Amino acid sequence: MKQRPRHTFSHQGDITMTDTITRWRAEHANFAKLMDLLESELDVFHEGESPNYELMLAIAYYMIHYPDTLHHPREDLAFEILAERDKGATALTRELSQQHARIRKDGEALVAELDGIVDGTIASRERVENAGRRYIENFRRHMQDEDIKVIPLAARLLRPADWSAINAKVRHIEDPIFGKGSEQRYAALREHIERERA
Ligand SMILES: [Fe+2]
Ligand SMILES: [Fe+2]
Repeated sequence: MKQRPRHTFSHQGDITMTDTITRWRAEHANFAKLMDLLESELDVFHEGESPNYELMLAIAYYMIHYPDTLHHPREDLAFEILAERDKGATALTRELSQQHARIRKDGEALVAELDGIVDGTIASRERVENAGRRYIENFRRHMQDEDIKVIPLAARLLRPADWSAINAKVRHIEDPIFGKGSEQRYAALREHIERERA
């Protein structure tokens, strides 16, 4: 079996700016892959056929347990420093932090909808499809703004010591899909991603 690339932020060792920015972008690429996968399942759903609900639930569950739990809190701390160093960035970073809160709320609602479908208590396909499509659209737009507007600014204004300070404030967790995590609930999703990569 091929080794999965390790694209998670690490607390260990020296942090270089290139590493940090590369990993930031790599995490976005990972999340983008999951949004594509979720969208393709919603397309199956839309055609009236039976999508892989467990896979969709695993993606939504991951979104609230990794990006919302580690990636976004780190960004919020980075945004605070950026806003201090460049007053012109304040409106943008504030908006993106507010989007983090909305993304979390929407992600939790999506998990609840999919949970309901998987355990048979919710049958509204339309509601799940709408919630899923809205989530994907918002998440993609959010990442695009960060990729284009914020990451270049962070590359210019943040220093390794800033990232050390940020990392000291957030509780590190392993990425359970693209990192070293091995939680059983993501096993099928990890295999699916491996197969696509092969
Ligand atoms: Fe973000
Ligand atoms: Fe991000």
